[in-house]
Amino acid sequence: MIVVLTGAGISAESGVPTFRDAGGLWEGHAVADVATPEAFAANPDLVQSFYDTRRRLLADVEPNPAHYALAQLEAAYDDGLVIVTQNIDDLHERAGSQSVVHMHGQLRSALCTSCGQQSPWDGDLAPHPPCPVCGRHTLRPDVVWFGEVPYDMEYIQHALLMCDEFVSIGTSGAVYPAAGFVSFAGATGARTLEINLERSEGSDNFGESRRGPAGMLVPEWVDEVLARR
Ligand code: OAD
Repeated sequence: MIVVLTGAGISAESGVPTFRDAGGLWEGHAVADVATPEAFAANPDLVQSFYDTRRRLLADVEPNPAHYALAQLEAAYDDGLVIVTQNIDDLHERAGSQSVVHMHGQLRSALCTSCGQQSPWDGDLAPHPPCPVCGRHTLRPDVVWFGEVPYDMEYIQHALLMCDEFVSIGTSGAVYPAAGFVSFAGATGARTLEINLERSEGSDNFGESRRGPAGMLVPEWVDEVLARR
């Protein structure tokens, strides 16, 4: 089985901005000002508008060759492929991938802080719409903020234990627990490969590191995997 971890770099060529390339700013905001529960408590309208804007921008972007190559690999590879993404966009799904775990949540989902239910969501949350399940006006973006526990960690750990190959694509290796997955998988004997535009904080932990744009290197790697079957 192969586990692929993706980060903002895989969506960069689709036009989705990464986090750390713009000097730690995300669309002009410090990550801590929009991606923490404290920021949401202090300034809910700013945080809602910020994610509303990003949700609307999904309509303007398309999957790129890296997303499509992973979907092609999943369809053709019999030994199992799990994509664990830190991204909150839906580009893996739109490229055709089915086995996608969104460990940091999703823009196209809303979480009710009253009833705890997640609801598919494509509109804005800033106007405080009612929760479709309980009717209270307490929806927030269904994204995992700093200080919160990522989704599906038990499933992810099991996949990392079982995999023969772990591949990290377009992530800076700066945010845990995702940054620790390579060591976890490597300790159980999995082959480890990093594909990233440049050297990352985690590069030394990988058995192999390839530098370049994901849109070029991921299709190349997928061809290699399919050729060696
Ligand atoms: P980052 O912005 O930290 O890192 C993106 C990485 O992708 C960098 O190492 C870039 O060099 C690389 N990159 C950029 N363009 C690329 C391309 N075309 N091809 C390949 N690589 C490219 O994004 P993440 O590592 O995803 O969490 O950030 C991890 C988490 O930190 C995010 O999920 C988010 C953020 O704060 C939360 O919001 C909880």
